[in-house]
Amino acid sequence: MSNAPWIPVTDFKRTSGWVRPEVADTRARVCCEMLEQGEILFFGEPPFNLPAEDRKFLLAQQWAEMRMHKNVSYRPGEDVLRGVSGDAATVERLHAILRNYSAEVITFLKKFLAPYAGNWTVDFSSFRPFEEEGRGLPLHKRNDLLHVDAFPSRPTRGGRILRVFTNLNPAKPRVWNTTEKFEVLARRYAADAGLQRIAEDSWLSRTVQDWGDKLGFRGMGRTPYDMFMLGFHDYLKENAVFQKDCPKMRLEFPPLSTWLVFTDGVAHAAMSGQYAIEQTFLIDPKALVSPEQAPYRILETIAGRPLVY
Ligand SMILES: [Fe+2]
Repeated sequence: MSNAPWIPVTDFKRTSGWVRPEVADTRARVCCEMLEQGEILFFGEPPFNLPAEDRKFLLAQQWAEMRMHKNVSYRPGEDVLRGVSGDAATVERLHAILRNYSAEVITFLKKFLAPYAGNWTVDFSSFRPFEEEGRGLPLHKRNDLLHVDAFPSRPTRGGRILRVFTNLNPAKPRVWNTTEKFEVLARRYAADAGLQRIAEDSWLSRTVQDWGDKLGFRGMGRTPYDMFMLGFHDYLKENAVFQKDCPKMRLEFPPLSTWLVFTDGVAHAAMSGQYAIEQTFLIDPKALVSPEQAPYRILETIAGRPLVY
């Protein structure tokens, strides 16, 4: 946990990109480095186009009646919107807004974090219309407990989960807690969360993957790293002592601010706030500028065995 809650970026503009093009490469690389070290990069307003009429439309819907899932999600790869029902015109407009939002964030990130461009899988985006405070979700789905992200349906195989968030609430901040860095948490809790067992069972996973290779499924399955991270997500949420006693930093993201963070490495909890929009990227390990900071590498060092292959 560093002393500043986030690192403000003031030399990248929505319309023109890097203010000093001659240092664009260096700045982009430094920004990747800071993110990989567990910092949060902060913009006072969205560094991409997010039309006011789109924001107004998102906030004006009767979300309680349209409610189906935890969030509204959009899958850019398939151009599919999930989690809403309603009249066809409204759903079509929402679809168009999410499609456009996603494209804008991708264009922005190609310029802002150039070292990652082309070395990522564009994952889902989501719109989060419900107040986070007091949502009453089941324990493992609760957003207000500190956790690192891991997706049951999308193993990253060592790749990293980068998320771009914008607080669309015109009046209220979105409030997060964060805590100590991944390496500190891993050194303290990975053993108790079952790292050694998962690492030692890896012959089984390796055998399954060898068979996958023969059948042409390379890269589809979970690695021991993915299995550990799914378990670690639950372990942290279940650990009442950790949740209560760990040092916490409170972050209040003001209306329209935008922040970028590797949520697989920065433990976070959304304490309150309503109306956020977010796009996720899975960054290929080979594109990382500080690969030794990646959670899989930290965990491999602790386990003394490879966890990704
Ligand atoms: Fe999360």
